[in-house]
Amino acid sequence: MRVENIRVVYATKTKHSKKIAEDISLALNVQAQNVTDNPRVEETELLFIVGGIYGGDSLPELLNFVHDLDAKKIGKAALVTSCASKKQGQTKVRKILEEKGIEIVDELLCQGSFLFFKWGRPNQADVQEAVDFARRLQEGL
Ligand SMILES: Cc1cc2nc3c(=O)[nH]c(=O)nc-3n(C[C@H](O)[C@H](O)[C@H](O)COP(=O)(O)O)c2cc1C
Repeated sequence: MRVENIRVVYATKTKHSKKIAEDISLALNVQAQNVTDNPRVEETELLFIVGGIYGGDSLPELLNFVHDLDAKKIGKAALVTSCASKKQGQTKVRKILEEKGIEIVDELLCQGSFLFFKWGRPNQADVQEAVDFARRLQEGL
């Protein structure tokens, strides 16, 4: 069944997650919100959390944001993770959500870059992969 009430939040250091979150938001017709703007999270059926990986971890501001989420207001969460290795997920975000009892429906690893490693990624095709992932979840597939 199609999910109607969707929210997209992101944390970013080098703007990859911002671009991914904004393109997802455009496709889903919602607003992307930077966690550093302290968005108020009202009732949400599906929350997309978009973030990169730095030294194996998520940004502290994203962890704080997830920590402060009101579990009663969030149905489910989906993770979109941008990293150079394309192997490391948002482990700590996942752990906090699990502790709160918020179900994680899926996580997409999106190709990022670090200095000259995978330079230019995420490219448009990488971002499109994230958009397609989000659309599938919106359609409840
Ligand atoms: C300081 C720094 C540390 C990073 N550490 C990792 C890492 O441990 N593993 C990894 O796969 N990618 C790592 N990366 C790559 C980023 O996760 C990748 O570029 C991601 O797209 C960044 O997202 P953002 O632009 O939204 O901040 C690192 C990047 C930076 C700048």
